[in-house]
Amino acid sequence: MDGNGRWAKKRFRNRVYGHEAGIDSVKAVIKCCLEWGIPYLTLYAFSKENWKRPSSEIQALWQLMKRFLHAELPVLVEHGVRVVHIGDREGLPEDICRLLDEAVEKTACGSSLYLQVALNYGGRQEIVRAVRLIAEKVKSGVLDPSAISVETINTHLFTGEVPDPDLLIRTSGEFRVSNFLLWQIAYTEIYITDVLWPDFREREFLKAVEDYQRRERRFGMTSEQVEAREIAHLS
Ligand code: FPP
Repeated sequence: MDGNGRWAKKRFRNRVYGHEAGIDSVKAVIKCCLEWGIPYLTLYAFSKENWKRPSSEIQALWQLMKRFLHAELPVLVEHGVRVVHIGDREGLPEDICRLLDEAVEKTACGSSLYLQVALNYGGRQEIVRAVRLIAEKVKSGVLDPSAISVETINTHLFTGEVPDPDLLIRTSGEFRVSNFLLWQIAYTEIYITDVLWPDFREREFLKAVEDYQRRERRFGMTSEQVEAREIAHLS
């Protein structure tokens, strides 16, 4: 959700004003997912690297998250959104953890949209954590090293059983993945737009989805093989 700061700067306002406007884009994107039947959404809200920001901005972000969780939780429950946190709890303020726990608990039965909120998240750190969990199992004899597979790594990541993302949207024209779901995006389609996150609403999201629909996903196969598979699927 990049570009909040630049969006605010263009309006001669402080960065927090941009993050506030970014929350409206969060709401708009969730609404679209519900309306269009998109079953999974991951929002990269605060990375491991974001701790390097001025503490006043970090504090303001926690305030905004708290406000969002307070105000939107009943709406999320009503619409069947299931909230899940990905990232490390250690380091997060206690009240944020409490609110996240409450959101996770109260939305646990939601089946319309699985919403992963990445907070204090880093893709490399997630892989290190998975390797440590697997190593412990090997050490205690529960897991045979020769049985370690891609699936083993998958199931030890925060994202667990959730399928790999089909589409990664990067706003504000930056061409990098910034430590986001590094393992999971091996075959993800990437869409980069110059639009700043606070301007990323229904129309921009639709453009991204339409662009995605025009892609041919081959997963290492040839076009002919992909076509044959699609025909077999239809018949
Ligand atoms: C990056 O833009 C944005 C963030 C680090 C924060 C994103 C957080 C929100 C939109 C609000 C809360 C989210 C939820 C899920 C309720 P930037 O500040 O790096 O922008 P810049 O690159 O233009 O400076």
